[in-house]
Amino acid sequence: MAELIEKIKKLKNEKNAVILAHCYQNPEIDDVADFVGDSLYLSQMAAKTDADIIVFAGVYFMAQTAKILSPDKKVLLPRREAGCAMADMINVEQLRKFKSLHSGVPVVCYINSTAEVKAECDICCTSSNAVKIVESLKSDKVLFLPDQYLGKWVESKLNGVEVITYDGCCPVHHQILAEDILNARDKYPDAKILSHPECRKEVTELSDYVGSTTGIMKYAKESNAKNFVIATEKGVVDRLRRDCPDKNFILIKENLLCESMKCTTLEDIYKALCEEKYEIKVDAKLSEKAHLCIDRMLGVSE
Ligand code: 13P
Ligand code: SF4
Repeated sequence: MAELIEKIKKLKNEKNAVILAHCYQNPEIDDVADFVGDSLYLSQMAAKTDADIIVFAGVYFMAQTAKILSPDKKVLLPRREAGCAMADMINVEQLRKFKSLHSGVPVVCYINSTAEVKAECDICCTSSNAVKIVESLKSDKVLFLPDQYLGKWVESKLNGVEVITYDGCCPVHHQILAEDILNARDKYPDAKILSHPECRKEVTELSDYVGSTTGIMKYAKESNAKNFVIATEKGVVDRLRRDCPDKNFILIKENLLCESMKCTTLEDIYKALCEEKYEIKVDAKLSEKAHLCIDRMLGVSE
């Protein structure tokens, strides 16, 4: 593995490439990554980089967002099939129908959506800035898609804003049930329970902290507690165990894995750099419209 890591680093320098990795990736990817983090952080890095090539160790919507933010760069997704089941839950026709039922209401889309969907929404958000983004609209009603749980969690944080949600969800986080949290409380009474806002309402309500993947890691690292139950994809637990060996991290459910996130290997990254594939392309007109939606978010988040 050490040899492969060196080969990737060498090629990365030769080609002036940058590797962005989401924290659900296999943890060994961090050994070659320039930036590791949540969706907001990675999109900010994609917008700022002066590299010629961006290799996105993540899923399709993330690489597509990077391409929209940096249209002059070559953006590569090492595994073509790495999609996001939640992003696939809404297409443009479904979006138009949803909007037509609530005309005139501002539309917020989660970054976990396609460029076509972003192009027809007012503003984008990630799990770490969703509350701030909805608040920035200064409207008593907003439409939120595709994730019903993130949308309803945002509503619970804001006074007097009705968040009308589309009925999408993340199949990984959807597996976590209230009884899992209650069982964990019984078994680990002194542990802090940290969950992602893509979890069901009952789960976030029973948690001690709710936040993005980076938010969860930051909370656990800064907390004085020793034991933590983590209600999100396993990659977060793997990184916390590595970074905080003196603390104890329990994954709420065994095998809580996002297969799309886990399919990328170091070999795939090496191949992606060697062969410069799979290149993400976005139609220029579509990209321009989707860019507006993402840019409004980055403007609020800075
Ligand atoms: P974060 O922005 O919190 O990293 O979440 C991305 C994601 O896809 C969670 O399922
Ligand atoms: Fe999509 Fe869920 Fe995987 Fe995140 S964990 S990339 S929302 S399928």
